[in-house]
Amino acid sequence: MLQHIVWYVSLSLMMVVGFGWTFVVLKSGTREEDYTPLQKRAYRLRARFFWLLVALFGTPMVYTLVDLPYDIIRPAQGAGTIQAVNATGYMWRWELSHDRVEAGRPVEFHVTSADVNHGFAIYDPDMKIVAQVQAMPGITNTLHHTFGQPGTYRVMCLEYCGLAHHNMTTEFTVAARS
Ligand code: CUA
Repeated sequence: MLQHIVWYVSLSLMMVVGFGWTFVVLKSGTREEDYTPLQKRAYRLRARFFWLLVALFGTPMVYTLVDLPYDIIRPAQGAGTIQAVNATGYMWRWELSHDRVEAGRPVEFHVTSADVNHGFAIYDPDMKIVAQVQAMPGITNTLHHTFGQPGTYRVMCLEYCGLAHHNMTTEFTVAARS
């Protein structure tokens, strides 16, 4: 639904730009004129347009950035409560050191790759992305996430990494807290 709205808004803006271009092309000639007043008006218009864009998109941008699937790195609440999972990406599969974690307890994923760059993305049972980090060769990235709901979660690769990129998925279980 939202994607449709975004698509139509983009399409309308593209059409506005297109009409603008056509207008300029049709109006352009070899006439010699003083363009200074026109230029001044254009600059004024541009400044107004800039502030209009800031007003239109600034608030939604701040609002949507809050929903980005990057978890804030919190200090460990006692090492014993943290569940560590090592995740390694290979062309084209994931290897997880554990396929079961507990809900309500922080999980620390140590994510790396054995070959090329992969994207380590975790999806909840409704296939909504909940956390993601880059899987890079030679580097181990840490991803913190505390799962709220038990269920089967899916890991998918978010970085195109070759022919079978789309097959690069695995699952793990988030169990209710014991
Ligand atoms: Cu790994 Cu795409």
